Amino acid sequence: TPRVFSGIQPSGDLHLGNYLGAMKRFVDMQETGIETVYCMVDMHAITVWQDPEKLRHATRELCAGFIAAGIDPAKSILFNQSQVPEHAQLAWIFNCVARMGWMQRMTQWKDKAGKNAQNASLGLFAYPALMAADILVYHATHVPVGEDQKQHLELTRDIATKFNHDYGADFFPITEPVIEGAATRVMSFRDGSKKMSKSDPSDASRINMTDDSDTIAKKIRKAKTDPEGLPSEAEGLEGRPEARNLVNIYAALADTSVDAVLKDVGGKQFSEFKPILSELAVEKLAPISGEMARLMQDTSEIDKILDHGAERARAIASPILKKTYEIVGMVGA
Ligand code: TYM
Repeated sequence: TPRVFSGIQPSGDLHLGNYLGAMKRFVDMQETGIETVYCMVDMHAITVWQDPEKLRHATRELCAGFIAAGIDPAKSILFNQSQVPEHAQLAWIFNCVARMGWMQRMTQWKDKAGKNAQNASLGLFAYPALMAADILVYHATHVPVGEDQKQHLELTRDIATKFNHDYGADFFPITEPVIEGAATRVMSFRDGSKKMSKSDPSDASRINMTDDSDTIAKKIRKAKTDPEGLPSEAEGLEGRPEARNLVNIYAALADTSVDAVLKDVGGKQFSEFKPILSELAVEKLAPISGEMARLMQDTSEIDKILDHGAERARAIASPILKKTYEIVGMVGA
């Protein structure tokens, strides 16, 4: 039976890349009627230092973001990772299945740990094994993510395959990544070769989901572009990462294709296109930030949703972990 799982880290502000590459897709999948499980991965967040007060705030705000974007806690399971201990328990087993060499090859590890790997946390190194546990503790079959998580999902498949092989059990499913839509890799507004990211020190490089309409408009107005006008076909975006990025964003916000967008705006200058993009972005994003702010006024409601979600998540995860323990040979009731 199909089941969708995905997660977002409550570290820093939620941005447009998270929304278009992940959250908006999560809503689409929820509406298909497939069981959907969405997680604030607070244990992943602490692989790099997080101020406890900020982590609390970011977790609740991320939950508010999910709901404001259209995740319905009655349809989807919405919870935070630390409250379902089965994730950490299965992650330990996967730590013993995954190989050091696999982890060392992860580009995100190499980027994040950089030259100072000796000083990175052990958790940051083991991060992808916890991610595999997140997914496989629900026997999830489909995982919607942005392009940057592709390698981690391949590793998840490798872990499932090796576990099944080592224990002679056809137990964990081989998960399908779902990397779809026009904005699987939203780029920085300052540099078209870098992805839009929470950790970029420049706030102008990204649109945060909490930005107000004026800020959104200003960031789009200032976004880096090249001097040429917009092409009327997608090939014309070749070698023009900034132009491609803005067209991708427009297409994703409008739920249409890049070709369809270029049919409309091909030939326009950026001075004309940017206001159109701005208007669409404000129309789509301002209601979300407004609703997030409203939900954050009373966080007890959010905490209740997370508690209830964790209970539902555990009901799925607990028997799968129990069966895993049996397969591995751990004695107990
Ligand atoms: P995180 O928190 O960095 O990002 C959350 C989601 O947003 C996507 N994303 C983007 N998509 C398009 N353009 C961008 N610039 C952009 N930046 C981020 C990410 O691809 C992701 O889908 N390791 C994961 C969290 C995680 C997870 C999981 C995901 C933990 N366990 C299990 C799926 C399944 C991460 O750090 O995402």
